[in-house]
Amino acid sequence: MTKPSQYKALFAPLKIGPVTAPNRFFASPHSTGHGWTEPKGAIALRAMKAEGGWGTVAVGLTEISPSSDYANHPMERIWDEKDIPRHHLQVNEIKKHGSLSAIELGHGGMQSRNLTTGLPIIGPSNLSILRPEIPSQSKAMDLTDIKSFRNEHKAAVKRSLKAGYDIIYVYAAHGLSILSHFLSVNTNKRLDQYGGTFENRIRLLKEVLEDTLEMANGTAAVALRFSIAEPDKPFGMSQDGEGRDVIEALAEHPDLWDINLSGWPKDSQTSRFADEGFQLEYTNFVKSITSKPVVGVGRFTSPDLMVSLIKNQQLDLIGGARPSIADPFLPSKIKNNQIENIRECIGCNVCVSMDAYGVPVKCTQNPTISEEWRKGWHPETPPISRKKETHLIIGSGPAGLECALTLANAGHEVTVAEAKDEPGGRIAQESKLPGLNTWRRVIDYRIFQLSQKKNAQIFLSSHMSINDITDFNSDTVTIATGATWRNDFIGSTNFDPIETNNYNILTPEDIILEKFKNSHKTKFIIYDDDHNYMASVIAEKLLNNNHDVTYVTPLPTVSTWTQYTLEQGAIIERLKSLGIKFALNYKINQNFEFVNTIDNKKLKLTSKNVVVVGGRIPNDRLFSDGQLFNTVQNVFLTGDCLVPGTMQAAVLLGHQTARKILDRNADALHSKREQTIH
Ligand SMILES: Cc1cc2nc3c(=O)[nH]c(=O)nc-3n(C[C@H](O)[C@H](O)[C@H](O)COP(=O)(O)O)c2cc1C
Ligand code: SF4
Repeated sequence: MTKPSQYKALFAPLKIGPVTAPNRFFASPHSTGHGWTEPKGAIALRAMKAEGGWGTVAVGLTEISPSSDYANHPMERIWDEKDIPRHHLQVNEIKKHGSLSAIELGHGGMQSRNLTTGLPIIGPSNLSILRPEIPSQSKAMDLTDIKSFRNEHKAAVKRSLKAGYDIIYVYAAHGLSILSHFLSVNTNKRLDQYGGTFENRIRLLKEVLEDTLEMANGTAAVALRFSIAEPDKPFGMSQDGEGRDVIEALAEHPDLWDINLSGWPKDSQTSRFADEGFQLEYTNFVKSITSKPVVGVGRFTSPDLMVSLIKNQQLDLIGGARPSIADPFLPSKIKNNQIENIRECIGCNVCVSMDAYGVPVKCTQNPTISEEWRKGWHPETPPISRKKETHLIIGSGPAGLECALTLANAGHEVTVAEAKDEPGGRIAQESKLPGLNTWRRVIDYRIFQLSQKKNAQIFLSSHMSINDITDFNSDTVTIATGATWRNDFIGSTNFDPIETNNYNILTPEDIILEKFKNSHKTKFIIYDDDHNYMASVIAEKLLNNNHDVTYVTPLPTVSTWTQYTLEQGAIIERLKSLGIKFALNYKINQNFEFVNTIDNKKLKLTSKNVVVVGGRIPNDRLFSDGQLFNTVQNVFLTGDCLVPGTMQAAVLLGHQTARKILDRNADALHSKREQTIH
């Protein structure tokens, strides 16, 4: 295989303390949502990254002891000897592909829940814990508690070494670690040798790092994951303040520095709010202070940027959490000169939302993630069919394209008929909204892949009638015609239509397609009963065009669901900066009044233009009138036209439909389940 010379630097081995990484691709620590109770799923997911060429694969946050109990947020555990075999298997599966394995040992401190263990939550001070959903305080650790915590950490290191890990992490990042809680003036109010001055607050981190190095004793490398800056926090770490001081104080201690931003919303920023490489401005200086290797993150998907970071000595290893989820084979595609085949992360954070739900991670770009063990799906090796068939797919949105690509990859003749004059369905539309351009990658990747195949074609401006479909005479027909935004105020909190003749009712589509054009400043009300990103981007578009916008929602918070993608804070800040007005807790009634759900007061409407962002109606006419069934044997419905949902859900449905088509007699969607009692 050719290894393009311009990317050679990415494939140079690198010594990390006593171990050597085979290349510069570092799959950063991330939880997979399987937790310690579904290890086979997590192991298969991580092994897939090793198979795809990530030279180092890190396991996500791993609780070191029962005093750091995150249940029911599925994390890894290494509490005692019984956990070792599971980790040992994980290490072997990663190493089988020649990659290094790393474990991120962590204690949640004031972020722990301890709901199952019932143990006191511990931290530097007696304060409310950092979880508003749990009404508990942390116990201020006395010197005996500190000693036992250090012993617990040492014991976890010992178990990790037994399991065979090459790199052992000390975790002081995201404000999710007891070590960060000791470091920060926000949470450390102690007056003893562990509080007050910087030297005192860093003491525990230094001790734990030294303990870990001593335990590893040159048999494994020791990494320190540290968040250099906390841009949102008053008195937080900063790259020119205490964040830098920590790097200087511990410069030559760890074998590897893994640096990033805190809190998690800053570290895993979406493409709407941050471009590729967004962390570099904070982390650039680290290599000038330490001689030890440095790994950093920032949604890196461009091989050119990656190689320039190595060559310019900004980083030694390219960290990737989301890019490695979206494409576990990113490194081997670069190695094999197949850059155009990389399925680039679009920065939507649906993966993060799954973590928040506590379920195995899902991804908009990679529908096979988390299905490696459960369903035996491989992201690069499609099931190949022995008998060649013809398949017609109507609609070229995310579901239609994914279905078409999976069928074409399996060797079938695939035709996609798109009624519009551009492909892409909802993504072609939504990606025109402010900040959402990167989402085009979902359709661009699939359209390019299909364009490279002799057995696939896409026809635009091809409106298909029942007769056209029948005449086409394909083995199967899949209808993927998407959904249309409702204008009748049926949404998440209202299931009955509301009508009015007194207002100009618009939908997101009207704004996206600029059906409402007005050069002078106009007042708009946006009624959000969808609660995802859409109302906020519509608002942003109107505000960018200098209109006056009031955001109204029946819920108590703005774009409520976006808390799961970590965007809610950034959305509020952006809309505020553009001059929006917010009216929360106002629910529409049948008289077309917006009534406050707390004090029953009515909102005074100052505009006749109301954009309603509510539910969507599936465009399933071709399917629902039943005629197709009389003439065509195998008809499938998929994506938003089966059930409107997220882009990720549409891609997954498209993939599932293709799998069903490929294996019509068997249960292609059967999932294995992990059982604890056999
Ligand atoms: C689903 C998900 C889970 C994560 N879990 C962890 C974790 O367990 N420990 C950790 O240090 N970072 C975790 N992270 C943060 C990533 O390691 C990484 O720092 C961040 O996503 C930025 O890198 P990226 O732009 O390459 O995704 C997680 C990220 C994602 C997307
Ligand atoms: S879900 Fe979105 S952000 Fe997460 S890895 Fe996939 S494409 Fe990237």
